Order: sequence, then C-alpha cells, then structure tokens
Amino acid sequence: MTEKKGQPWHEQDGFWDTFAPVIFDRQRRDLAAEEIDRLIELLGLAPGQYICDLCCGVGRHSLELARRGFAITAVDRTEQYLDQARDAARAEGLEIQFVHADMRDFCQPESFDVVLNLFTSFGYFDAQRDDCRVVENARRCLKEDGRFVLDLMSKEIIARVFRARDWRPVEGGIMLEDRKIVDGWTRIENCWTLIREDRQHQWTFSHRLYSGAELCRLLQDCRFRETRVYGGLDGSPYDDKAERLVVVARK
Ligand SMILES: C[S@@+](CC[C@H](N)C(=O)[O-])C[C@H]1O[C@@H](n2cnc3c(N)ncnc32)[C@H](O)[C@@H]1O
Repeated sequence: MTEKKGQPWHEQDGFWDTFAPVIFDRQRRDLAAEEIDRLIELLGLAPGQYICDLCCGVGRHSLELARRGFAITAVDRTEQYLDQARDAARAEGLEIQFVHADMRDFCQPESFDVVLNLFTSFGYFDAQRDDCRVVENARRCLKEDGRFVLDLMSKEIIARVFRARDWRPVEGGIMLEDRKIVDGWTRIENCWTLIREDRQHQWTFSHRLYSGAELCRLLQDCRFRETRVYGGLDGSPYDDKAERLVVVARK
C-alpha cells in the first residue's frame, strides 16, 4: 500500500499495515510479559481491576493483562490490528472488550482504574489541541483516583541518542530510518524505508516531541492532580540514562 497525499499518516491503514512486521516484531511481542510484570509492580495492580489499553495495537499488553485476570478494554483505530488481537484472544479463551475508535473520541466515563497508552502512541496529531482531547478523555474514563500511564520516547532521550540515519536488519529484509528535528524541537520527522522480499516501501511521518516537564504540564493543565515521572516501566529515575519517559498521572 502506498502513502495517500493529504491524509495524515496515522490515519492510513497502509502505514500500519506496511510497518506492522517492524513495529511488532518477535522481540517486541516477547517483551510484553516483562513490561506487564513491571507495570503491575510499578502501579501495585491487583487482578480484577479495570484497565483500558488505549492504542492497543495487536494487543500484546491487553492479552498479557487478560491472562493475569484483569478486565480489559482494548481500543485502536486500526481494524486489522484489532482483528489480530481478537483472534488471539479467542484462541486462548480470553475475554477482552475490543473497541474500534479514535483515541480523540473514545470515552467511557468513570470506567477504569488505569488507562494505558504505551510504546509511543501519543503526539501523532498536527494540532496539540488533539493531544489535549486524548488526555481529557483519558481522565474522564478513569474512576476517582485512577491513573493514566504514558510511555514515550521523549525530547530529552532523543536529544541524547539522536542519529540522523540508521539501518538495521529486520525479519526478511532491512529497514532504513532517516530523522530530522523540525519546528524548533517540537517535532521529529521520520522517513522509514523498508526493503523486504525485493519490494521497497517508504513513508515520511512526524510526531510531536514532549519533554518530561512539558508532558507533566499538559497533564496538569487537563486537571490530573499528581504526575510522577520515571525512566521506564521499572520505575527507574528519569535521568540522563533513561531509556523511556513514563508518566503516571493520577485523577
Ligand atoms: C506504536 S503502536 C503501539 C501499539 C501498542 N500500544 C503496543 O505497545 O504494542 C501505535 C498504535 O496506535 C494506533 N493509533 C494510531 N492513531 C490512533 C488514533 N487516532 N486512535 C486510536 N488508535 C490510534 C495504531 O493503530 C497503533 O496500533
């Protein structure tokens, strides 16, 4: 599938379809169990709690949480990902509520103990107002005292590890990544080229960059009363060695 001009990259099935084997490769899928171990410990979660996996992708975290007895609602805009996740849940006899929705619109008021947004599923929209809509909806979805967890590559981390060009082998091919910091460090523009089975696929896309402080400010402006910042789901400090920006915001 090729890029349609004039339509945002994140709204195109072609993007998610083309890069699914890279975004959700075996290694990434295998990481989910460990990530959920860490999340459970970080938040002190107990089976039976209600969790929304906002932008669930192919369901790697939703499935793992359902296996451990949590009540899961999994939301995504990409139908082919939801289909895969639904098939996997059915095969294991796991009950998960799947919802096909845009994160800017999804809202089930006062329903969840935790809303998750994992693996850089935030900051896609051109207008920052849309990021605020996502945060406001996440807050509305939470029960009193519930928590919203965001896990991103932040501005500080990208500044530290930035490389304008990279390549790496992927299952059945190679992947080239070109990166540019644009709009005065508010966004990163990526050009991904996947060469696989003698075919070349190329997409250019950008997303907003948040620093730890900027993301906390956004959450506080949207009336989250407490924000805690970590350098990973393991609860490590958000410092010069951090690999991720994880923010836990309390309603
Ligand atoms: C990088 S993937 C992360 C998936 C999942 N959280 C994980 O860790 O495996 C981003 C996901 O966001 C979904 N997505 C993109 N834009 C969206 C939107 N506006 N509303 C809901 N989901 C969206 C994509 O379909 C994709 O599944």
